Amino acid sequence: MATVTNIQDLRAIAMKKVPRAIFHYADRGSYDETTLRANKADLDAIALRQRVMIDVSERSTRTTMIGEDVALPLAIAPTGLTGLFHGDGEIHGCRAAHAAGIPFTLSTMSICSIEDVAAAVNKPFWFQLYVMRDRKFSESLIERAKAAKCSALVLTLDLQIQGQRHMDIKNGLAVPPKLTVANALDIATKPAWALSVLMGKRHSFGNLAVRKESDSLTTLSQWIAGQFDPSLSWKDVEWVRSIWPGKLILKGVLDVEDAKIAAETGADAIVVSNHGGRQLDGAVSSISALPKIVDAIGGGRNGGTSEIWFDGGIQSGQDVLKAVALGAKGCMMGKSFLWSLAAGGQAGVAKAIEIIRKELDVSMALTGTKDINKVDKSVLAL
Ligand code: GLV
Repeated sequence: MATVTNIQDLRAIAMKKVPRAIFHYADRGSYDETTLRANKADLDAIALRQRVMIDVSERSTRTTMIGEDVALPLAIAPTGLTGLFHGDGEIHGCRAAHAAGIPFTLSTMSICSIEDVAAAVNKPFWFQLYVMRDRKFSESLIERAKAAKCSALVLTLDLQIQGQRHMDIKNGLAVPPKLTVANALDIATKPAWALSVLMGKRHSFGNLAVRKESDSLTTLSQWIAGQFDPSLSWKDVEWVRSIWPGKLILKGVLDVEDAKIAAETGADAIVVSNHGGRQLDGAVSSISALPKIVDAIGGGRNGGTSEIWFDGGIQSGQDVLKAVALGAKGCMMGKSFLWSLAAGGQAGVAKAIEIIRKELDVSMALTGTKDINKVDKSVLAL
């Protein structure tokens, strides 16, 4: 870890440490991966404005996301299969996030259950909900999130049906991982991963353990096709609102019309996201959608009631600064989180957050900015 200086270093370690199928699940996108590449390319194409000779001795990256104090405007995005990147990965990730002062989101498709994580951490975390065909089961997940004192519900809007990820099919990604000849050979070269994951509490979807069909999962994509509900609509958001009285975050909006409807639900935050380039391939990059959505609905920074957050390609503090400059009140990171978890467990995630925090701090200084809450388009060379 001592020679790790950036998120790409953590990715390189992750690639060596975890089986190919697991690594690709995090790393890759849907179809031709045009949108996956656009997320990163469009962030990279934005230039920051260098300023000099401004006293930047006192700087702060501290702000709030939905009223929660955060050390920097960043939260861990919900990611499926987290506990297969490192044994008890959800617990390691949550502890690292909380120690660094940022929120952690537990996915419906996590390996550790809501209760496993709640028992292992001492601060509330957020729970991400996929509304499944079985509404009673979805309701029971909400009840479990309430019982675990989750401080926000993150409702994912953009996965009624799954965009095909070629690599997951080619790799035969299944949960729990299937021991085929090809992946047995692969796993044999990753003993530290095998030990860590075998020692973990669970090896399949912890939140779904009560459902018998989760015992006999075929491939992940087949399972999702069977359980996820293509008939979901804004009415279901109202339904969730009516049974979840706490903070509500709507994740997966890319279009201004959708953002307007999302804002009308009174959501506390709306996450501009294309699911990390894992859903509609050919969709615009998240960063190109962000300013249009902020302009249309205010973004919680200048009058709108729903905060607008950004998700889609965050791999550095410079990326966070660019998203905040374009109006995001906060950001979420998924891939960078999973790479760091795979690379070093809790210490790896702590390292990733610290790398991004320092990059943000230095980039603020070099753009002549002292307070993240005052960052606007003027830090960009437009
Ligand atoms: C599920 O959330 C996925 O993107 O695989």
